[in-house]
Amino acid sequence: MSNKHTAEDILREIIDAGYRSRRYLGITDETLRLLREVSDSVLAHKNEIVDGAMASLMQEETCLSVAQKAALSTERARALFLYWLELVFTGGYDEKHSLQVTKIGLAHVKAGVPQIFMVNQMGAFAREIIKRCNCDPEHLQAVMQALYWNLAVMIYSYQIIRVMVFGRATGISSEVYDRLVHLYSKDLYSQLAKELGVK
Ligand code: HEM
Repeated sequence: MSNKHTAEDILREIIDAGYRSRRYLGITDETLRLLREVSDSVLAHKNEIVDGAMASLMQEETCLSVAQKAALSTERARALFLYWLELVFTGGYDEKHSLQVTKIGLAHVKAGVPQIFMVNQMGAFAREIIKRCNCDPEHLQAVMQALYWNLAVMIYSYQIIRVMVFGRATGISSEVYDRLVHLYSKDLYSQLAKELGVK
């Protein structure tokens, strides 16, 4: 993504990223058919799934403090998770869906949820779904593809904002930033390799 971008460019990038993730993960019309097919048996346990995933969030101090700052009540969090969980099974994994999930991602960037907790939270959802759904491997595969697509699109929201901030607000180009990240990570990598006694 370049530094000069209109809202229209950004929307096009989002939609394109959604399609690329779909291709990468191998989500096809057959995957969507399997998701629709398994939907009822998973959503029959939607309350336990959401409660189980929320229990993970609620034992993490950082998440509790972010939720408190955003005045996010347990009831609202539960309702938002339920809305999203249904969308996992009913969404088209198309343009509209990419925009819907990007909006969800942006809500977290806005609220200051560190990316790592989005990844952890998705893992918690995967754990709860696997625990409760009586799915065969084919259906489970479709569910995993769907969850990873959602995660990829949400994480992309963090990337979009990062590029916008570098382009518009700091005057530092994202290339310069990437170069610094490269240098620092190279350093840390070498230190860690030394520590571990490997090259
Ligand atoms: C798989 C991961 C997650 C999913 C699917 C999810 C789902 C959602 C949804 C659907 C929304 C509403 C977004 C919108 O405005 O359109 C939302 C908002 C929010 N979420 Fe999450 N969430 C996840 C992880 C987390 C985590 C780890 C936290 C940590 C505290 C968190 C805190 C929040 C906050 C503070 C908001 C804004 C609340 C508001 O608008 O009132 N979420 N989430």
